[in-house]
Amino acid sequence: MNIIKAKDYDDLSRKAANIIAAQVTLKPDCVLGLATGSSPLGTYKQLIDGYNNGDLDFSRVKSVNLDEYKGLTKDNDQSYFYFMYNNFFKHINIDVNNTNVPDGTELDSDKECARYNAVIESMGGVDLQLLGIGRNGHIGFNEPDEEFVKLTHCVDLQPSTIEANKRFFASADDVPKQAYTMGIQTIMNAKNILLIASGEDKAEAIRNAFFGPITPHCPASILQLHKSVYVVADEAALSLCNL
Ligand code: GLP
Repeated sequence: MNIIKAKDYDDLSRKAANIIAAQVTLKPDCVLGLATGSSPLGTYKQLIDGYNNGDLDFSRVKSVNLDEYKGLTKDNDQSYFYFMYNNFFKHINIDVNNTNVPDGTELDSDKECARYNAVIESMGGVDLQLLGIGRNGHIGFNEPDEEFVKLTHCVDLQPSTIEANKRFFASADDVPKQAYTMGIQTIMNAKNILLIASGEDKAEAIRNAFFGPITPHCPASILQLHKSVYVVADEAALSLCNL
């Protein structure tokens, strides 16, 4: 595990984007695992700048996103497809047909999860998986649980996650109660993992994930077992770690 300390959110975003840029440069037809949330927004902006100034070419890149709210259509401005399209895909030269997000409108969970697992498998796995982290240590939407769930599945979101994500919706009642997410094994199968965290409210999750016991009660703690993990976090997010 490599912990890369950033000064603040901007520094973190530049460092994270540099790692993704290196992946795209070294393997132009790579598979990127992508994430939503406020954490990666700055990283995506940096990558868009890299594309605009001619340094980066995404024309052969394929992508697979971690998760999606169940029940939201692609054109719902809170869906993760909408987020990815408007904050990243439409600004670069990636072929949208090569991007994948679970289909929130497929209400048959077994069918959608099987389809998404097959999509990931058909791509030959993920070269670099970008992750944020929830305040309770969740990755994707793998919530704290009694066990690690391996493959893409449908989850009931925890009240704390609904509370944290309600800022994007009109009210907590409007936050979907379920989501599709890649499972822990799928995430662990990625060749390289880049987890980003910013701010004091992530400090406890970062300490528990990387300096606590490996337990499904803190899903991100499983990353301690991955052989190529880069954690790029700012000083506030690392404030509870003795580094
Ligand atoms: C959501 C997403 C996660 C993300 C987390 C943290 O729950 N499913 O993938 O890591 O939020 O989001 P933020 O970066 O906005 O704190």
